[in-house]
Amino acid sequence: MLLLAIESSCDETAAAVLADGRQLLSDVIHSQIAVHAPYGGVVPELASRNHIENIALVVRQALDQANITLAELDGIAVTQGPGLVGCLLVGISFAKALAMGRGLPLIGVDHIAGHLLSVFLGNDKPEYPFIALVVSGGHTSLFRATDPVTFTLLGRTRDDAAGEAFDKVAKLLGLGYPGGPLISALAEEGNPAAIAFPRAWLGQDNLDFSFSGLKTAVANYVHQERQAGRDLRLADICASFQEAVVAVLVTKAMLALKQTATRTLVLAGGVAANPRLRDQLLARGEADGCRVCLTPARFCTDNAAMIAMAAARQMEQTKTTPVLDLDMDAYSRSPLLETT
Ligand code: KG4
Ligand code: ZN
Repeated sequence: MLLLAIESSCDETAAAVLADGRQLLSDVIHSQIAVHAPYGGVVPELASRNHIENIALVVRQALDQANITLAELDGIAVTQGPGLVGCLLVGISFAKALAMGRGLPLIGVDHIAGHLLSVFLGNDKPEYPFIALVVSGGHTSLFRATDPVTFTLLGRTRDDAAGEAFDKVAKLLGLGYPGGPLISALAEEGNPAAIAFPRAWLGQDNLDFSFSGLKTAVANYVHQERQAGRDLRLADICASFQEAVVAVLVTKAMLALKQTATRTLVLAGGVAANPRLRDQLLARGEADGCRVCLTPARFCTDNAAMIAMAAARQMEQTKTTPVLDLDMDAYSRSPLLETT
């Protein structure tokens, strides 16, 4: 069973081939960072155009690296949403055309489900049920997963996503884009206790997040230091900001485990590549006697391998092979984030 997956929800054009739902044969990612870096963030129109220029090449490369031809494929998985609709439509149209041409089933995958199940691409595979902390540029959510298709939303951000906070703080410090890796690198040299930035708890038992106040606090601090004519201690600002984000993420993840009497935690999404967050979660998990499964760093940021893995696990669970749905449309909001 050979599955081709395509991901184009934001600023990565990606394709991957997965064999028998287990073995990754190729994983190709074309990053658009250079296109968007001058603007300090993703420009949707440029992103869509860049996807259309690169998608055929990326898919070709994924097939070549897997050493297979289109004729050998058994199905095509594609990110259906959430994301930038103009970007998603490029991937969906391309996948639909391929599926139609080859008479293959087409599987729409939710991008958040892709992140959540990306942990199965690594060696440290969790047992169900588990709590998943999905932290990326677009999302910050806690779910309880009981199988590959059943996720209960426990908490979500009320404003900015954690990755968005990293990106915005990096922008106001003039560091560049994307901010996460730049801030975490600078933070290594800084003192995490240098500046007491606020942590938004939103109530003792609350599993929601809020990061916009933190971003404003960093902006105010920078302004105040500049007004006073002091040099900015960038490493200290980065370390202290990162510590505020990590403290909230770790505390709420542990609280979610406690509240739901669950013993396993999964960390996924672009911000899951953050070394401080990984270390702190492992340490807290060990202290509390819980198992912490980290998605391998290379699968944390957007990729198509996670879309292939999610499609495979979900098909296995539902024991269905989707038919070719030619009406498939993109969505910008995930049904997984709907609160009832
Ligand atoms: O999952 P992803 O590639 O895209 C979305 O689905 O949003 O996540 C990208 C986000 C960006 O905001 C980026 O700054 C953040 O992940 N990120 C990090 C690190 N590496 C990437 N944030 C903190 N520390 C990192 N090392
Ligand atoms: Zn993502």
